[in-house]
Amino acid sequence: MTAPRVVAVDGPAAAGKGTLARRLAAHLAIPYLDTGLLYRAVGMTLLSRGLDPRDAGAAAAVAAALTIEALARDDLRGPSADMAASRVAAIPAVRDALVGFQRRFAAAEGGAVLDGRDIGTRIFPDAPAKLFVTASPAVRAERRWKELQARGVHADLATVRHEIDTRDRQDATRPVAPLLQAADAVLIDTTWLTPDQAFQAALAAVRARLAKAA
Ligand code: CDP
Repeated sequence: MTAPRVVAVDGPAAAGKGTLARRLAAHLAIPYLDTGLLYRAVGMTLLSRGLDPRDAGAAAAVAAALTIEALARDDLRGPSADMAASRVAAIPAVRDALVGFQRRFAAAEGGAVLDGRDIGTRIFPDAPAKLFVTASPAVRAERRWKELQARGVHADLATVRHEIDTRDRQDATRPVAPLLQAADAVLIDTTWLTPDQAFQAALAAVRARLAKAA
């Protein structure tokens, strides 16, 4: 049996992982999973039931029952989903409950591109291709702010920056599966790159890794 062609794309908030991962998946003709949506869906399901995203028991139960359909909720992008996701993501039982979902997704079609925080370190430590995508906090805040504006969501840049800094800190310092660059991940710093340049750099790195693993 050939190993699944898993491409792990990790990195901090608003680094451009999603755009990059989606494009890589289309180019390689394999499925794409935005794993942030799993945590967002768990967080928003709790909030919509009037529950606290820090309630470990309730959050783990929602995570264990999560279906792919829940990822299509229309309230998963926005500041409350950002924070609720980051809160449930720090609960070990939630992360454990979502491991199987991510592994089954990639196994179903012999490979996938997954983006998140711990894909290369925990979900697929043996992935043949791993990227760690980052950019300076100022640039990431500006990109997220522009994204919100494009969607007609009013926000001020300083608040967006503060929210990104808080989430980075929460994600990087939590005891379970903290945001971390895997030792064998290729670093793509997109601070000074256009989306096209970032994609070309990522594609070259992924191609080289997949060829080596074949
Ligand atoms: O798009 P953005 O980078 O802002 O966030 P996201 O990738 O959708 O992730 C939202 C939150 O979910 C993050 O702040 C993490 O706390 C959590 N997350 C995680 O812990 N592990 C993952 N594999 C993906 C997301």
